[in-house]
Amino acid sequence: MKKFVKIFVGLIGFIALIILCFVAFVFLKWDKKYDAPYPELAATQDSTLIARGKYLVYGPAHCAGCHNTTERMLRVDQGEDLTLIGGAEFVFEPGVIRSRNLTPDMETGIGKLTDGEVARVMRNSIGADGRPIFPLMPFQNMSDEDVVAILSYLRSQEPVNHFVKPTEYSFMGKAVLALGLIKPEGPAGTPPKSIKIEPSEVYGKYLANSVANCVGCHSPRDLMSGEFIGPKFSGGLEFEEVPGALFVTPNLTPDPETGIIANWSEEAFVERFKAGRVYEHSPMPWGSFARMSEVDLRAIFRYLKALEPVSNKVEKTQYMLEVGGSN
Ligand code: HEC
Ligand code: HEC
Repeated sequence: MKKFVKIFVGLIGFIALIILCFVAFVFLKWDKKYDAPYPELAATQDSTLIARGKYLVYGPAHCAGCHNTTERMLRVDQGEDLTLIGGAEFVFEPGVIRSRNLTPDMETGIGKLTDGEVARVMRNSIGADGRPIFPLMPFQNMSDEDVVAILSYLRSQEPVNHFVKPTEYSFMGKAVLALGLIKPEGPAGTPPKSIKIEPSEVYGKYLANSVANCVGCHSPRDLMSGEFIGPKFSGGLEFEEVPGALFVTPNLTPDPETGIIANWSEEAFVERFKAGRVYEHSPMPWGSFARMSEVDLRAIFRYLKALEPVSNKVEKTQYMLEVGGSN
């Protein structure tokens, strides 16, 4: 009996030691810094590029839909062109991730960052301070020309002094960082210099994967690390940004049985986007996407229609548990 107690106490002590070592490891290692060369891209005063940048920021790339306070995000969704003062809080298991002030304000915005530092966030998801940027912005493979267009537009905004508290990771989030499961991702190969704007599958692929992030929401992913864990565009990712309002992304592949747009015409697709938001709390930035040009929408549709069909039945895309209304 005595021997048993001794072994038991020893075992508990051993487990406690392992836990303690892990906690120490997390606290010592979570704040890892990363490095990558700064992209050699710089803002210009070219009015055509500034206009392209504004279109991307308020439309397909929806920077404006995230880089604002929650109240202003709603107004951007309804069609107002508000400057990008930051402040939205994205609450995930790894922590509270806060979007930054992207106006050229010297104190609270990107005024103190160089063009290279801003471009590196987009290309390599590494912050100016070397921190890994939370994987919400998959712009790694955006063309040089479009990155320059966005930089040019951001620099042309009115500076707004608006302080946003830094992102805060939970213990789980710090553990994920310490283990290197959230780590910066760079481009796959050399990003294109520029891309031809035409209703082609090539341009649609570019928009859906490298600009509008259709792939990021409409694919199965690990919610802790953001990693893709199933066929891209097959849907099934769950969102509950407002308690009680659960959304599930539909399958966008052209599977005749389970793909949502398999039977849609190109016109119906364009009209669906022009109509904008249907569900109040849907995480999809419908308001930004409603500003997309017909060429861009047609390109995306043609790309999605040409994808490999994947059978993945998503029963329902929205469940309004408490917010009122069913279906
Ligand atoms: C889905 C929401 C979302 C979208 C869309 C988005 N961002 Fe962000 N962005 C964030 C969040 C959240 C952070 C903070 C991330 C962190 O702290 O790890 C951030 C951080 C940044 C930073 C880092 C700034 C700093 O001070 O370190 C830059 C630069 C940036 N975003 C630029 C852009 C640009 C340009 C676009 C559009 C092309 C864009 N973002 C689109 C949510 C978004
Ligand atoms: C932030 C996450 C997110 C992003 C980004 C996103 N979607 Fe969605 N999408 C959703 C969710 C959630 C739904 C289901 C709720 C709804 O219909 O609003 C949805 C619904 C849809 C639907 C079905 C609409 C209907 O009327 O039934 C289509 C089509 C669609 N998305 C296409 C796209 C395309 C194309 C893109 C990129 C241009 C995209 N989505 C980007 C989350 C997203």
